[in-house]
Amino acid sequence: MVGQVTLQEHLKRYSAMGSDTLSAAVKATLAIAGAAIEIADLVNAGAVGSAGGTSDRNSDGDLQHELDVKADDILRRCLLAVPVAAMASEEANEIEIAEGKICVAFDPLDGSSNIHTNLTIGTIFSILPATEDLNQAFFQRGSAQIAAGFVTYGPQTSLVLTLGDGVDVFTLDRVTDQFRMVRSNVRIPERGSEFSINMSNRRHWEPPVRLYIDECLAGIDGAANRDFNMRWVGSLVAEAFRILTRGGVFLYPSDTRPTYGEGRLRLVYEAHPIALIIEQAGGAATTGHERILDLSARNLHQRVPLIMGSRHEVDRLDELHRDPKLMASVSAPLFSRRGFFRQ
Ligand code: F6P
Repeated sequence: MVGQVTLQEHLKRYSAMGSDTLSAAVKATLAIAGAAIEIADLVNAGAVGSAGGTSDRNSDGDLQHELDVKADDILRRCLLAVPVAAMASEEANEIEIAEGKICVAFDPLDGSSNIHTNLTIGTIFSILPATEDLNQAFFQRGSAQIAAGFVTYGPQTSLVLTLGDGVDVFTLDRVTDQFRMVRSNVRIPERGSEFSINMSNRRHWEPPVRLYIDECLAGIDGAANRDFNMRWVGSLVAEAFRILTRGGVFLYPSDTRPTYGEGRLRLVYEAHPIALIIEQAGGAATTGHERILDLSARNLHQRVPLIMGSRHEVDRLDELHRDPKLMASVSAPLFSRRGFFRQ
């Protein structure tokens, strides 16, 4: 079936389950897939090269590229054609209210600082049940999500999707302009030997993160007892896709820089949907202290530390964050003034 089944055919079985909410989630997913084809066309057409960064900044203070704005417009137009009660976009301050049984949060173009370097960028989305007070819709726990997915605009345009019973991957068939299933029931390997973190921030990290990365760097000579490789694309969708393919761990932790006390990534638009996908594929996603899917946002653009990937690696990071005795025993020699690494 893999390679043959289109996204539309695959989703029929969810529409047939008789749940209005699930049927609405299917319609929204198809609308997002349609939007993704338009966005992929823009990216492939070289709009990437010609679209200069505008002087605008989005509600998060990030530089807004012309393509960010276009992708946002496309997604809104496609989603307004299906019943959606409310939409929240990483590019906007306010939610948009319409009518329907579900709400959709999206990051139209994640990793957009990579636009000019022709690296993989993507769209991330999260589908939640509508709440009585729609202003509260995006403050539900991550575990309330009905569906989540992301699209990568890279060498291939791929859609990674979960509707709560496993993860499937679809790749855009350019001949028919249809997404076709290429992987079904994706499983992340229990252990992974690739870590992914922005190493340039090392001096700002908290001790548990430094300890873990030092274990990775020590490789076969250290506590991990195996060698690691390192990858950092600077594009969450690309890192998540790689982890779904061959495991490993990704970290964007909190650090001591003035505005990074809660990390960099947004809970509603990035961490919640990615965490649902990773868990549905057998991996884990935490802050180091809490499971991401147990969290609910206090505000739309709230940031959160994100550690996700192969279960064994995430468990080790949680252990280092949790256990003060372990921390004290490992950190004393490593981080003391005369130790190996000075704080
Ligand atoms: O949130 C946007 C994003 O580009 C992510 O896709 C990526 O993981 C991260 O920011 C990169 O951040 P930095 O530029 O600090 O490494």
